[in-house]
Amino acid sequence: MAASRDIKNLALVGFMGVGKSTVGRILAEQLRFDFLDTDERIEREAGRNVRQIFAEHGEPVFRGMERRLVQSLAERNHLIISTGGGLIVDPENFADLRQHAMIVCLWATPETIYERVRYQSHRPLLQTPDPLARIREMLAQRESAYRQADVLVGVEHRSAREIAQHIVHQFNAMRKPAAEPA
Ligand code: S3P
Repeated sequence: MAASRDIKNLALVGFMGVGKSTVGRILAEQLRFDFLDTDERIEREAGRNVRQIFAEHGEPVFRGMERRLVQSLAERNHLIISTGGGLIVDPENFADLRQHAMIVCLWATPETIYERVRYQSHRPLLQTPDPLARIREMLAQRESAYRQADVLVGVEHRSAREIAQHIVHQFNAMRKPAAEPA
């Protein structure tokens, strides 16, 4: 059976383009936590960008790198973890992160996501003739995984700072035991 949770960190999950890294950096600044972006960390350790890893080794190798990185985070404290959009789809990653992190999912419609990513080329999974259709399809496949997050936050019509502020309130409420004086 899973051990009880010890919430010391905060993980941002959600589809590509919803603003996890931007919001994560603001959260790190506001909470005075360290910031870790899983894609950046994997790229640094592999000496290759995500596109190259997909092209040279394939997606399963990238997912293995994500899995090992998640396993290495269990002992960390005061950390904001911005995850790649597919990381949380692996139930083992979800279960591991949940032990030590509050999981926040940033959410947007396929159309908003498309507008945000359409001129970017660093995401191999969206290099297709019809990216909007691909986003719709992948979001539908992943929705149940994303919805298991502790907190779901819609990112439309709110600035990154407003989103971060909302998350800080939720985090403070969740990590303080109810009986503890403020
Ligand atoms: C992926 C999302 C990307 C990156 C990789 C795969 C996904 O990260 O990990 O291209 O499967 O959704 P971002 O969500 O930071 O774009």
